[in-house]
Amino acid sequence: MPIGIFDSGVGGLTVFKEIAKEYPETDIFYLGDTARVPYGNKSKETIIRYSLECGDYLKSLNIDVLVIACNTASSYALPALRKYLNIPVIGVVLPGVKTALEKTKNKKIGVIGTLATIRSNSYKNLLLKENHSLEIYQKPCPLFVPLVEEGMIDNHIAKIVVKEYLDELVAKGIDTLILGCTHYPLLKNTIKSLYPELNIVDSSKATAEFLKKIYHPKSENSIKKIFITDENQNFIKLKNLVVGKDIPVEKLELAKLCKL
Ligand code: DGL
Repeated sequence: MPIGIFDSGVGGLTVFKEIAKEYPETDIFYLGDTARVPYGNKSKETIIRYSLECGDYLKSLNIDVLVIACNTASSYALPALRKYLNIPVIGVVLPGVKTALEKTKNKKIGVIGTLATIRSNSYKNLLLKENHSLEIYQKPCPLFVPLVEEGMIDNHIAKIVVKEYLDELVAKGIDTLILGCTHYPLLKNTIKSLYPELNIVDSSKATAEFLKKIYHPKSENSIKKIFITDENQNFIKLKNLVVGKDIPVEKLELAKLCKL
């Protein structure tokens, strides 16, 4: 049975890539809701509705596990998706929290994400639940998603924007930075070049490892397929960069999703 994965756009492909490495023989379907990206500046109600529509579409392809490869959707829609789909659903927040706890030495952790993810306090609450003496510094970085969607991941504009957001966080003395948005790993090299001493937590690997512990499908036809809700040349370019040219992309009519 296939694995379903969704994100608002291209970012979740960083999670897709790690999951595909762990499950080479399993069918995996990815949905990037490119017609409605970004989710990160939408209301809670809208994020939940869009997430249910993505989950519903993937369920129509007979998936039996769903990975929410989007921190914004994981922060708001996890319980609603579990209830509605009635199959195992995993998000990216908990795996990222576990990795950050393993990495930090000085117990000062920075969390960056979309406006909605930071507003939800999903990371902060889980981190403090695990260890209430941690110092957590959060910052929304709303320009990162459009930068990535435009493919500006390592030019001088990317560097200026990264510095603008992160200098202040790094000045707090954090030793670990959680990339609380699946688009942000595409900026990882730029972030690393500016702050080489930071531990950077990218939850895509941690999520794939987490899935591996709970999901053991029989081998299938090894079909990997990506659906998008709007044509987007930048998506194709970044998709080729992240997961290679061989995985086909199909455009869906958004109307097919908007049933809820
Ligand atoms: N990649 C998504 C996340 O992890 C959301 C980006 C967006 O749509 O704003 O939060």
